[in-house]
Amino acid sequence: MTSSDYWDEDTARRFEDDSADMFAPEVVEPAVDMLARLAGAGPALEFAIGTGRVAIPLRDRGIPVQGIELSQPMIDRLRSKAPADAIPVLAGDMATTRVPGEFSLVYVVWNSIGNLRTQAEQVACFRNAARHLALGGRFVVELWVPGIRRLPPGQKAVPFEISDDHVGFDTYDLVTQQGTSHHYRRLPDGTARYGFSNFRYIWPAECDLMAELAGLRLEQRSADWLGAPFTSESESHVSVWRKPAER
Ligand SMILES: C[S@@+](CC[C@H](N)C(=O)[O-])C[C@H]1O[C@@H](n2cnc3c(N)ncnc32)[C@H](O)[C@@H]1O
Repeated sequence: MTSSDYWDEDTARRFEDDSADMFAPEVVEPAVDMLARLAGAGPALEFAIGTGRVAIPLRDRGIPVQGIELSQPMIDRLRSKAPADAIPVLAGDMATTRVPGEFSLVYVVWNSIGNLRTQAEQVACFRNAARHLALGGRFVVELWVPGIRRLPPGQKAVPFEISDDHVGFDTYDLVTQQGTSHHYRRLPDGTARYGFSNFRYIWPAECDLMAELAGLRLEQRSADWLGAPFTSESESHVSVWRKPAER
């Protein structure tokens, strides 16, 4: 039983329109470039593969890609773009689902590891990644740095976008590391639609401990897919942990 929110039919139908900026070539291509470099000949496995935003272009580079995805409506959207023999996907929880085979690369992007809302499940996710890796293989996580520096004492919410058609803010519980992203989207008829998603935030150092528990070693950490240095000002990180090349 997972703690993740389930992405239902309605959410899946709206997903690509609501997140159009994440599908822009300037966002996707640097991620695919780096993942392709790290995968070598592959194969690669994406946890929480969604509708294939990254997996499809990675497959187009000639790297065999498989996926694990909790939401059947998201898998159905992926299937309308890539058949099962091109990108096989197992429906299941990324913390526990086992895909047959060994992979040179396992990756989970766009903050999706935070969808697991307990520390135990996040540790299990690192262990599940390690279980799928060949010796010397790599686990890559793209994750934001919790925006808590922008949370003044006494306040519970941090806005992350305020525009004409979208107001988004995160609320945090600093004791449990639980958070919720709230979205108000203006519709063409002038009314607004509310949506939310829940997450557990993780600091980079906590990720490193989870990796160590899974037998993985940090190889590199940058602020983005282009390799910008990770600093105290960075708002996200792309981290690469490696499974030792020998037992
Ligand atoms: C923001 S989307 C990212 C999709 C894709 N990785 C991308 O970059 O476009 C998050 C995805 O995580 C999936 N998800 C959430 N919890 C999950 C879990 N425990 N196991 C597998 N997939 C999960 C959701 O169903 C959704 O498809």
